[in-house]
Amino acid sequence: MANNEELFKKIISHAKEYGFVFPSSEIYDGLSAVYDYGQYGVELKNNIRSYWWKWMVQYNENIVGIDSAIFMHPTIWKASGHVDAFNDPMIDNKDSKKRYRADVLVEDHIAKIEDKIEKEVTKASQRFGETFDEKLYRETNPRVSEYQNKIDDIKSRFYTMLDKGEFDGIKTLIEELGIVCPVSGSKNWTEVRQFNLMFSTQMGSVSEDSNTLYLRPETAQGIFVNFLNVMKSGRMKVPFGIAQAGKAFRNEIVARQFIFRMREFEQMEMQFFVRPGEELKWYEYWKEHRMKWHLSLGIAPSKYRFHVHEKLAHYANAASDIEFDFPIGFKELEGIHSRTDFDLNAHQQFSGKKLQYFDPETNESYVPYVVETSIGLDRMFLAILSNSYKEEKLEDGSIREVLNIPPILAPVKIAVLPLIKKDGLPEKARQIFDMLKYDYMCQFDEKDAIGRRYRRQDAIGTPFCITVDNETLNENTVTVRFRDTMLQDRIVIENLPLFFREKFAINIG
Ligand code: GAP
Repeated sequence: MANNEELFKKIISHAKEYGFVFPSSEIYDGLSAVYDYGQYGVELKNNIRSYWWKWMVQYNENIVGIDSAIFMHPTIWKASGHVDAFNDPMIDNKDSKKRYRADVLVEDHIAKIEDKIEKEVTKASQRFGETFDEKLYRETNPRVSEYQNKIDDIKSRFYTMLDKGEFDGIKTLIEELGIVCPVSGSKNWTEVRQFNLMFSTQMGSVSEDSNTLYLRPETAQGIFVNFLNVMKSGRMKVPFGIAQAGKAFRNEIVARQFIFRMREFEQMEMQFFVRPGEELKWYEYWKEHRMKWHLSLGIAPSKYRFHVHEKLAHYANAASDIEFDFPIGFKELEGIHSRTDFDLNAHQQFSGKKLQYFDPETNESYVPYVVETSIGLDRMFLAILSNSYKEEKLEDGSIREVLNIPPILAPVKIAVLPLIKKDGLPEKARQIFDMLKYDYMCQFDEKDAIGRRYRRQDAIGTPFCITVDNETLNENTVTVRFRDTMLQDRIVIENLPLFFREKFAINIG
């Protein structure tokens, strides 16, 4: 199998070739870190969103959904802290005029040292063969220890300076580590400066009247400012949740890595309002429940891990990420945050409106505490795509490209294929297609040899292909081919709806 970098490139080109993801504005040479979803991509994305919505809203009586506007009153971003604190430390190279995130330059440098460690380990494992004890080697080899100490030292200095806002020190560290601009190759750096990640725009036609607005960098604030409306109109009782899926925008400076880090992306967030003092119990509940959602898709548990934040944002009293094993390594996929009463309090203060709940059980009014679950839809798409892409060597020596997408999320659920284009087979196949298309996204394909058509469906992840052959006309049966095993079953046409209902049932565990 290809190494991870090669694999990642293959996934990106597969996504383009088969209509999942295209670079935005490609005929104009593209727009950096902005992507469009193609005909299969949009189906996969819709299916992921709908699967999330079902688990969060439909299956929980005390959670409702909203869809708030992207444009919001500018003071909201003052209250939330985004105007003052949603920044990245940036540094420019004076020769190439390219701008970089200082933390990414340092982290890339650390990754290079980590690569050196991995090379030492690979070399040693080849040298020692089966007797190789990797753990012991990592702990005792002097060269590996030297590299590891270097990494620990850089991390501890860098993160301390970042916390304290010591930007001069960060510049000195970058120079000391000999980090060069990847474009000019020079070390001619400017000072490190803070750069706000929000996009702004103007509302109003005349410049004097116009207001500066921000494109929302998270969907969460749309939930907080609707807390009162939803609570009253929905007669909600604490604990209750409000969910929302929608676009968010961040002027990410170093936006590489395909759809992992984009400038325009979609979030699926839920804010759960609880009694003060009960937030940590709910935080644990939501950690477990969200992991259950991921595992319900049948992806190997070893692909997921929790990363508990040791350093907390000023408004949080607990926070974890669910990380996924992407081809670029284990990275954040979802965040679960105990946000205290920070947001509602801030909006109460800035708006002058009371954002409180009267608890009939305790006869008290209070500002509820909040536990948030926040997942990037595009990142989940990448997790599914990268986990499902496989190249299999078949018995005849050919390579089969297949996407083992969980059936419930597959863009096309069933392909209906007449074996040949005559003898009434296409007409019979159309009848079956028409019978199933109201319940499932189906595709009818009669072009090319059957083997090639199976391969096309494998490449877009269609879990089932129905083949209509001469026996179909005589016996009213079809073959159903399973994408993952390539095995086939013969099934009576009338039984197909029940067969597929079982196959596409949601596993609620
Ligand atoms: N309301 C909390 C919040 O926005 P976050 O950790 O900044 O928290 C939540 O973002 C999730 O949104 C991340 O775990 C990630 O999946 C996704 N996300 C954040 N920035 C992104 C970007 N530039 N491109 C794609 N997804 C992104």
